[in-house]
Amino acid sequence: MSVDGFSGGVAVTGQSSPEPRGPRLPEFPWDSLASAGELARSHPDGVVNLSVGTPVDSVPPVLREALAAGADSPGYPATHGTAELRSTAVEALRRRHGVTGLDTEAVLPTVGSKEFVAWLPTLLGVRPGDVVAIPELAYPTYEVGARLAGAEIVRLAPGQTPPAGTALVWLNSPSNPTGRVDGAATMAESVRAAREVGAVVASDECYLDLGWRTRPVSVLDRAVSGESQDGVLAVHSLSKTSNFAGYRAGFVTGDPRLVGNLLEVRKHAGMIMPRPVQEAMTAALGDDEHVRQQYERYRARRERLWSALEGAGFRIDHSEAGLYLWASGDTDAWSTVDWLARRGILVAPGTFYGPAGKQHVRVALTASDERVEAATRRLAE
Ligand SMILES: Cc1ncc(COP(=O)(O)O)c(C=O)c1O
Repeated sequence: MSVDGFSGGVAVTGQSSPEPRGPRLPEFPWDSLASAGELARSHPDGVVNLSVGTPVDSVPPVLREALAAGADSPGYPATHGTAELRSTAVEALRRRHGVTGLDTEAVLPTVGSKEFVAWLPTLLGVRPGDVVAIPELAYPTYEVGARLAGAEIVRLAPGQTPPAGTALVWLNSPSNPTGRVDGAATMAESVRAAREVGAVVASDECYLDLGWRTRPVSVLDRAVSGESQDGVLAVHSLSKTSNFAGYRAGFVTGDPRLVGNLLEVRKHAGMIMPRPVQEAMTAALGDDEHVRQQYERYRARRERLWSALEGAGFRIDHSEAGLYLWASGDTDAWSTVDWLARRGILVAPGTFYGPAGKQHVRVALTASDERVEAATRRLAE
């Protein structure tokens, strides 16, 4: 039988099947961690997985209750989110980070921040031939987003300025993977340099609440972007600080004109946060107590892992904020991954984040207290 020119999966028209024409994306990095994962999982006391920054603690009850209360939502939700969600987001940024002067209309919920990072260049109209500047060591999705738009990427070392032709500059302080924090003056210089070449600045601030040794600053702080938010976007996620990764919730805010344009495209493209999640997100942004409790959990885990890694001979660089320890044994990243996997501890090689990570591994703080305890015991053996 032939259906639409195909028979048993074989084309019968004489034409060869079309070549896939999707964008050329980097290899999915986590696939290459499979054999280290297998080794780590064979440990008699089980794996301690510190390779991904996925929350393991419960979703705070106040957020679950808000989700349930919003469950009867038969109609389409608004792409712009509810007015309450937007004003609560503006208020949370003021309370938690001292950001003032935001227009509540210039808040746009996103379905987690990963989708926004991946699609921002395309939604902004970045074209083939344009340049997207990303940090030298960076969350891989910045590159994915540039490639989806057909743009080139350039990796900028700290202090380096974007070249002419740059359409978008990604900042990420606190950094994934290094935990490095840029001070207000450094960030202001990055914003100035980006504005000079006419680039949009997108600041990924998903670790902003997790400052350990320093208080990270938002790009929307007046000390960074000045009196106007022209050309500047701050990208926020609730995944880490509210244990919300499973709900997929974030938001972008900043330059009202840019946010307005993004809203228009996202309306057309159906990039809409479900209404029950909007309700839960509003509850999360209105409550600081669960953020404080989660912060304390990560702080305790961080201290234990830091001293256990140092005790085992590793050096920790940067890591003054965020959800990771950037550790080095002054040797090849993959041999450190293997050394730790033999002890049942799975971490990510620094090379996942850029060539400059070749002697580092990234150790996530996202494991239960019991698993962190297991890791510290094994590192002391
Ligand atoms: C720097 C950075 N940006 C964005 C994300 C995406 O987070 P989410 O999509 O859960 O909001 C992550 C997740 O690990 C990240 O590390």
